[in-house]
Amino acid sequence: MTDEELERLLDKLTLPQKVRLLTGATTWRTGAEPALGLRELVMSDGPAGVRGEAWDERDPSLLLPSASALGALWDEESVERLGGLLAAEARRKGVDVVLAPTLNLHRSPLGGRHFECFAEDPELTGRTGAALIRGIQAHGVAATAKHYVANDSETDRLTVDVRVGERALREVYLAPFEAAVEAGVRVVMAGYNGVNGRTMTASSLLTAPLKDEWGFDGVVVSDWGAVRSTAGPARAGLDLAMPGPEGPWGEALVRAVEAGTVPRAAVDDKVRRLLRLAARAGALGGPRAAAPPVRSRDARRLLRRAAAASTVLLHNRDVLPLDPEELGTVAVIGTHAARPRVQGGGSAGVFPSAVVTPLDGIRAWLRGRARVVHAPGPPPDAPPPPLDMSLCRDPRSGVPGVLLRVLDASGAEIYAEHRQSGRQLEPLLVPAAHTVEISALLLPRTTGEWTLGIGGFGRMSLTVDEHALVDGDFARDSDDPAVIHVNPPARYGRVHLTAGRTARLVARRALAAGTGRATVVSAAPPGPDAEEALAAAVRAAGEADAAIVVVGTTEHGETEGHDRTGLALGGRQDDLVRVVADANPRTVVVVNSGGPVELPWRARAGAILLTWFPGQEGGAGLADVLFGRTEPGGRLPTTWAAGLADAPVTRTRPEQGRLAYDEGLHIGYRAWLREHREPAYWFGHGFGYTSWCYENVSVPSAIEAGAPFTVRADVRNTGRRPGREVVQVYLARPGSERERPVRWLAGWAAVSAAPGETVTARVHVPARALRHWSPEEHAWRTEPGRYRVLAGRSAGDLPLAAAVEVTATG
Ligand code: BGC
Repeated sequence: MTDEELERLLDKLTLPQKVRLLTGATTWRTGAEPALGLRELVMSDGPAGVRGEAWDERDPSLLLPSASALGALWDEESVERLGGLLAAEARRKGVDVVLAPTLNLHRSPLGGRHFECFAEDPELTGRTGAALIRGIQAHGVAATAKHYVANDSETDRLTVDVRVGERALREVYLAPFEAAVEAGVRVVMAGYNGVNGRTMTASSLLTAPLKDEWGFDGVVVSDWGAVRSTAGPARAGLDLAMPGPEGPWGEALVRAVEAGTVPRAAVDDKVRRLLRLAARAGALGGPRAAAPPVRSRDARRLLRRAAAASTVLLHNRDVLPLDPEELGTVAVIGTHAARPRVQGGGSAGVFPSAVVTPLDGIRAWLRGRARVVHAPGPPPDAPPPPLDMSLCRDPRSGVPGVLLRVLDASGAEIYAEHRQSGRQLEPLLVPAAHTVEISALLLPRTTGEWTLGIGGFGRMSLTVDEHALVDGDFARDSDDPAVIHVNPPARYGRVHLTAGRTARLVARRALAAGTGRATVVSAAPPGPDAEEALAAAVRAAGEADAAIVVVGTTEHGETEGHDRTGLALGGRQDDLVRVVADANPRTVVVVNSGGPVELPWRARAGAILLTWFPGQEGGAGLADVLFGRTEPGGRLPTTWAAGLADAPVTRTRPEQGRLAYDEGLHIGYRAWLREHREPAYWFGHGFGYTSWCYENVSVPSAIEAGAPFTVRADVRNTGRRPGREVVQVYLARPGSERERPVRWLAGWAAVSAAPGETVTARVHVPARALRHWSPEEHAWRTEPGRYRVLAGRSAGDLPLAAAVEVTATG
């Protein structure tokens, strides 16, 4: 659409018509404007899948590996292809704008949304994010770079004021967003948090650098509910307040323009941007851009490959890959083996139609070859999971699932539906709707004390066979939409149930204003005795030819709306690994977490694999790695501490509302290097199934300031298998006049080689890797002089070194 055409459209609208477009029409839609032939634009979370407008199980989505797994790929092509899957999913669900990628950084290992961010390093984050954006946007769907900016932890996220210096802001936190704008991202989401005294939806950072300096011509959308006043955000460059239809703009914004507190030109600029986005999405009369449909089998294959390729092998004492021909019995241990976490909690959550668990993947691989024994081990220290549909029948129809009813104030039914989940997110369907009810006939497989719960706010009750387990009025204690609508606290009760004897469960929640939309019914069978379960795991491991123990985080941590309080694996999982590793030297530990956890037993394990939150095909990808079809391709996108106490940057709790980024430029490996501390595993670390020798590096002896250059590194595959190696290049500037990180990632390239073969990795070092932000001049500068160029396999293992002289330009 040309600028003239845009102006013509704009001229057709009155001020109230314009302003109406600037607040959502619903939770996920922008308004339509018949005068322009403009239809509604549909938005949806992201980033691990496209949920669509409904927040439940009825319309399942492909579930991709979470962002930290994509960060571990170090492979833009694969990320771009996965972006294409998101685009195809968006089209299938009628979505125009995907609310992904999340470009915040792994600043503290405690960050609750760590799983949703790619990495601790701005360059890896920026390149991975740009690749995902290209993949999503190749087919007309818009991507959203979020959450602009410095929204790197969750504690008090609606109000926290992040204090960060100009240089760190530019070089570290804004850098991935700059890369996103360069990649052509069409939407940027302003976060809930504040930066240096201004809430992000009213921050001058929305104009400079985003719009003025970087030339972003798309739409700045607020995070959901983040616009809290009228004039500030309107003047600052926030374009679209979501969700709607209520909000602080509307009439109030019309009045503010009429009173002269908000310039008319500001409103026009917002509408122009929105129309531009609509034109690009085919929402202005044109057809909706079509993404090529993806066959389900192809999509699943891609997800399986991505799960394997993002798996990080931390160490291997010649245990992996396992040879199926040599295995008579394999013990698969841990509750996560059968109930993995395939995604993190919060707004990123989607509903996959099926999940391949590690146990499924291993069984499928070994079918007809080896016996698989599963020992769950002690119960995890996790809240009871959502109702298991395989235990429930709809009391009305008798078919598996639950009955969802909406009742009026008198208790009469006004709506009923058969559903497949105890987690329901209901709007107030009709004015008469008063109570939502979820009921089921529960057929326990285990006798003993069950824990049942109902999550939500307001008046709630939970009964089992007329016996009240929960009954009360539970006031809302949070303003955070992720808590109110997605993860409300649950209240629990316990009841004795008998295996094979049906119990009638009825959960009710009053649909009162301000109590949110979520009702979540959960149930946990009585856990086995921890000591007995440990003993059973030891027996299974001892009798097997190999043991695979799957451990991981639980819903307690790694979820939006909260930061973690520690890095320990919950429950008795560390004990479980220790006893299993002692019982069988061929023990592979599989860690299922979105972010770092402590691995205090790491010296005892035969091999350790990280699978992250691997998405729906995780178990299939894991089995491919375990049995050697694929090598574990991932490299750490973030440094893993041996213990939380060692980690240099951890604080996420604001003091008097402020969270000071005192460490400046030095987060992640940069902080470890500066403090001369040794982590358990460095950023960039990860093995495949072969070994490599770094033989030679060459760089131009001199370049002009502002020019990119290429590093050539020769690496030889010294092992017995073909493999892929991620060759990483870091720069250092000893003796600089500026404060510098000890070294920083400048680029990387992946190479593949056959056994014995030497290949040359050509690593492009962009000019930006050599520049720094000058807070005195408010500009990028390149310091002339000698830079060290280091090449190797992680931030802590860089066997090759060279130097390049940067000369001042003319
Ligand atoms: C999250 C965003 C998300 C939005 C809509 C917010 O609470 O911070 O990432 O896109 O909700 O679900």
